[in-house]
Amino acid sequence: VDAFAPYQPRFIEAATSTGCSTDAIEEALTREPGTVKVVYVIPNFHNPTGRTMGERERARLADLADRHNIVLVEDDAYGELRYDGGHQPSVASFSSSGRVLSLGTFSKILAPGLRLGWIIAKGETRAKLLAAKQAADFYTSMVPQIVAHDAARDGFLEHHIDVLRQAYGARRDRLVRRLTERLSVPHRWITPSGGFFLWLEVPGLDGAAIFEAAAASRLVVIPGHMFGSTAASREAVRLSFSATPPAVIDEGTARLVEVVCEVAGRPLTDAAPRSSRH
Ligand SMILES: Cc1ncc(COP(=O)(O)O)c(C=O)c1O
Repeated sequence: VDAFAPYQPRFIEAATSTGCSTDAIEEALTREPGTVKVVYVIPNFHNPTGRTMGERERARLADLADRHNIVLVEDDAYGELRYDGGHQPSVASFSSSGRVLSLGTFSKILAPGLRLGWIIAKGETRAKLLAAKQAADFYTSMVPQIVAHDAARDGFLEHHIDVLRQAYGARRDRLVRRLTERLSVPHRWITPSGGFFLWLEVPGLDGAAIFEAAAASRLVVIPGHMFGSTAASREAVRLSFSATPPAVIDEGTARLVEVVCEVAGRPLTDAAPRSSRH
């Protein structure tokens, strides 16, 4: 959203608490024919909800892009980081028109500091993107491109992605296990099959209040209202597990459970061990 904002678009939110809603996208396209220019989706391990679209939803999005003559941007920042379940075809693979652009990045699989990513596009769209890139900055710096090329060419990248999948998948499992054991207030989440995030919905509780109480406990969660304006997003927080070693996940979950109980005005249950703050 921050990247689009300088161009002063009018945003139409089509997200539900469980991720993007294709129905809402179709409804917006039909309600305001010709006014929607770009649809932006994250089909794999959505940030923040962790949700992954099924094949039918992807095919339907590609069809909508073709029928309504819009550009559909498929941001696949986390696609390589799948921990279980089968590979899903890209949205672009369902489109023959070139109206779907797929974005990828080395940030999550090699190094965020490289600032290197890619766009898969074809035909006229590709030519326009090349012209726009030349007009913007001529070329992406060569050094990060050489680093990424070498990492990919000698097999390091493939191996590294396997290592990341193992480590991040284990961290996800640890977080899910600890939350399942300890969280006693009403809650909901979809276990993400990849990516970095678990979207924890706590109906009736304010994600911003949880954020503030968590910060006081030196625990970082992102309040749901940062990602959307629906009531469901306000009653949620995004938990990030990828950069957190298992022992820290245990301590973080203990603190989170204390914080959520405090915000809910409920006592801690016996199932929830005290955090090391006490
Ligand atoms: C969905 C999504 N797209 C893109 C990015 C950013 O990628 P990059 O570091 O290549 O700018 C992120 C993460 O920070 C993300 O969550």
